[in-house]
Amino acid sequence: MLKSLFDAVMERRSRRLIAQVREWLPTEGRLLDVGSGTGHVAARLERELGVEVVPADVTDMHVVGRPPVLIADGTLPFEAEAFSATLLFFMLAYPGDPAGVLSEAARVTRGPVIVVQTLYSGSLGYTWHRGREFVWTIVAFHVSRLAGYLRPDAKFTMRTRRFYTAESLEREVASAGLRIRARRERPVLPHRALVVAGWILERDV
Ligand SMILES: C[S@@+](CC[C@H](N)C(=O)[O-])C[C@H]1O[C@@H](n2cnc3c(N)ncnc32)[C@H](O)[C@@H]1O
Repeated sequence: MLKSLFDAVMERRSRRLIAQVREWLPTEGRLLDVGSGTGHVAARLERELGVEVVPADVTDMHVVGRPPVLIADGTLPFEAEAFSATLLFFMLAYPGDPAGVLSEAARVTRGPVIVVQTLYSGSLGYTWHRGREFVWTIVAFHVSRLAGYLRPDAKFTMRTRRFYTAESLEREVASAGLRIRARRERPVLPHRALVVAGWILERDV
């Protein structure tokens, strides 16, 4: 019962996320999903696109699809240009060196790096963002593990190290030697106080 409820929430969320970046997704080659979490995005992408999606994460909290390739913070154990696209969805707040993660993602990808990240502006956006992060990341993780939705050995790996504005994420992208080719945003609060931003990145040559 609880599992069906959690699954329904996660399926709805991944459907919406994929729709936001759908037009950028390659339909051939293997995709890499870094920070794959419960695996719902990777599993849905495989179904929708008919391509292989490799999940990778610093812990195994997968609920659907294949277990992730376990990675260390900042390193992707894959050959250069092994993937046709790499996805970084809601994960850049956690690594020690996010620019390093972005440049590793670019190294293993021959196509685009696609980032989805919540961005705030102003004090209302910041406060709302912190509140959402607390409820939807910290509380949600512990409740789901206690309820048996997540594996009991799933480690909590989402200590938020930073909250991004568009400007601070742009700086991260630039210091990884990348640039933004296109953006698609979904507003969460009016006046862009909080948005879910989808960015497609390419090498800044
Ligand atoms: C908020 S969840 C997002 C999960 C998934 N991308 C989604 O949108 O459904 C953040 C994920 O990033 C992972 N993560 C945390 N630090 C990481 C790191 N240094 N490298 C890769 N993944 C990391 C966490 O384990 C978690 O699965």
